[in-house]
Amino acid sequence: MTARIEVGDGSPASPRYAVLVGRGLLADGGSAVHGLLPPGVARVLIVHPESMEQRAAVLAAGLRERGLTVHLGLVPDAEAAKTATVAAQLWQQLGLAGFTRSDAVIGLGGGTVTDLAGFVAATWLRGVAVVQVPTTLLAMVDAAVGGKTGINTAEGKNLVGAFHPPVGVICDLDTLTTLPRADLVAGMAEVVKHGFIRDQRTLDLIAADPTTACDPSGPVLAELVTRSIEVKAAVVTEDLREAGLREILNYGHTFGHAIEQVEDYRWRHGEAVSVGMVYAAELACLAGLLTEAEVAEHRRILAAVGLPTAYRIGPEVDREARWAALATAMGRDKKARGSTLRFVVLAGLGQPQRLAGPSDDLLRAAFDRVI
Ligand code: GLY
Repeated sequence: MTARIEVGDGSPASPRYAVLVGRGLLADGGSAVHGLLPPGVARVLIVHPESMEQRAAVLAAGLRERGLTVHLGLVPDAEAAKTATVAAQLWQQLGLAGFTRSDAVIGLGGGTVTDLAGFVAATWLRGVAVVQVPTTLLAMVDAAVGGKTGINTAEGKNLVGAFHPPVGVICDLDTLTTLPRADLVAGMAEVVKHGFIRDQRTLDLIAADPTTACDPSGPVLAELVTRSIEVKAAVVTEDLREAGLREILNYGHTFGHAIEQVEDYRWRHGEAVSVGMVYAAELACLAGLLTEAEVAEHRRILAAVGLPTAYRIGPEVDREARWAALATAMGRDKKARGSTLRFVVLAGLGQPQRLAGPSDDLLRAAFDRVI
């Protein structure tokens, strides 16, 4: 069965599009993707990494059968895709192939590929349609939905980008069956995040049977993906440009991004966010907003799916220097205003709020509880 989730309210500030979640959606050679393209599209560029070459070829053949001219844009995998150089190569490809405003880009791959494809679509002729086809759990429940697109610069991740909602998103759960286990588990961090900020049933489903919850062929993960996208859809429909509410989707990300930076991006994003959520929970507890039991619930759920709940450093690492580096990295967080740090915290499960300007002592005390 295919679930259909609507995102956006159709206003100019929040265009409406559908996210389809199901199995076999890519197997029939592109009818689902074709169905989401706007009328009048003559050319498409499928942006994909090498690992998706076969799926891209099947999709291309299906779209050609439906009368489209299809180009393939092979890009590096992971963060290496999100550079100005790779974006420029794709712009050149679009230019040489004569892509017009009524043509489209398709992003087929993980979050880095959908971020890049979205950015290229946002910038080509000031914006052409993009259909996102995420093939990792993280991209399905987060990166490909909501219209954030971007590339990295030498100074940091996602510093150049645009809000450019897709015209549709296809989540074929069959692609998760070949996803490395560690990547599936890392993607669960965003699922759990949506549970903590808005959806108790997500937490209950995971707690009831964490093994089944992480089975890519089973019905529970299908429900979790659908519920997760529903949470994200509701939030971004209300606040596409992160003027306020959308910040709650950054739960766990302030400390998580700091870990990623300090660890030179050797940690998976989801793993860092997992520890970041425990840090945010400890901070909330110290601020009198969460109970010890609710913090323990964070650790229990995250550990149950195999995510880290502590920040481990080797004996050779100086703890004080590491804390200083993390604190500096948190100061560069996009939610920071001037020199004031802002955290998304919970005042009870499902009740996100902002915590602005926590004292250095509080920040440090929370660190001591997760290290
Ligand atoms: N990943 C957080 C957001 O889309 O706002």
